[in-house]
Amino acid sequence: MMHIKVPATSANMGPGFDSIGVALELYNHLWFEEIEQGVEIIVKKEHEIKIPTDKNNLIYKTMVDFFAETGNVMPGVRLIQKDDIPMVRGLGSSAACIVAGLLAANHMSGCHYSREQLAQIAAKIEGHPDNSNPALFGGMVVGALDHNEMRHVKLDLPKDLVFAIMVPDFPVSTEDSRKVLPDMYTKADAIFNASRAALLVASIYAGDYENLAMAMQDRIHQPYRSQLIPDMDRIFKAAKNYGALASYLSGAGSTLMAVLTDDKAEVFQQKMAAYLKAIPNEWQLTLLKPDTKGAQLIAE
Ligand code: HSE
Repeated sequence: MMHIKVPATSANMGPGFDSIGVALELYNHLWFEEIEQGVEIIVKKEHEIKIPTDKNNLIYKTMVDFFAETGNVMPGVRLIQKDDIPMVRGLGSSAACIVAGLLAANHMSGCHYSREQLAQIAAKIEGHPDNSNPALFGGMVVGALDHNEMRHVKLDLPKDLVFAIMVPDFPVSTEDSRKVLPDMYTKADAIFNASRAALLVASIYAGDYENLAMAMQDRIHQPYRSQLIPDMDRIFKAAKNYGALASYLSGAGSTLMAVLTDDKAEVFQQKMAAYLKAIPNEWQLTLLKPDTKGAQLIAE
C-alpha cells in the first residue's frame, strides 16, 4: 500500500491572517490502494466528530474532484485513515485531508502534477493557503492568494524553536470563527497588523527572538475570536510568565499556541500543565517541533 503522512499546521501565527502558517511534527496518516471498484474507507482512530466512511469523506471527495478536474476515470479505492491531528481545533486537520487526497489522487493518476501545482489547487479549495502550504512544504510558509494564483515562500525556522499546542476540549469551527470578524478595519489596525506581519517574517529570518512578543500580536482576528475561547488572554499571560517568547491563537481556534526555545521547554511544560489543570475546561498541552519536510508519500 502507499502511505501518506501530512503534518498538522498552525495558521496565522498572530498577524499573518490567511497568509502565514507553520507545519508541526504531528501527523494524519493515509494508506491507499486501488481496488476493482467502489470505495472502502477504514477509520483507524475515532474522534468526537465521526469521520464519514462513505462518499462524504473529505479525502475521498477531494480525490473524486481531482479526477473529475483532470478528466481521468477514478478507479476503485481502499483508504485507511488514521488522524492524529485533533479535529476542529485550528491545527489544519481539514487541510491535511485535502492534501492527502490530492497526493493520493495525483499518484493514482500517474503523478502528472508537481507539488507546486497541488499547492495551487489546495489553496483554491481551502480559500486561503496558510494551512495547505505548510502541510505540503513543511517549515514556515508565507503565502498570498490572488484570484488565479498563489505565491509563497518557505522559511526554515531556527532549530531551537518549540511550539506548545494547548488544545481545549471544545471545538471552534472555522465557519463560526470567521463569522465573528468585522467587514471593515481601521487604518490603525491595518498598520498594526501589516507592520507586525513584516516584523515576524524578518525576525524569523534574522533569528531575532526578542522581537517575537511584538511580532506575533494581532488585531485582525484574535480580539474578535477571544469571545469563543474562554481564558485566552489569561492563558497567554501565563505562557509569558512561564517562559514563552510569544503566543497566539492557532488558525481559527480553538487551540492556543505558545512559542519558546528548547532551553525553556521543561519548565514551561511543568508549570503550564499545572496552570491549565487549575482552570475550567480540559486543556491538553503538547510540545512539538516544526515539521521541515511537509507531506510525504511513502511506498510500503
Ligand atoms: N486563516 C484561517 C482563519 C485559518 O484564521 O480563519 C483557518 O482555516
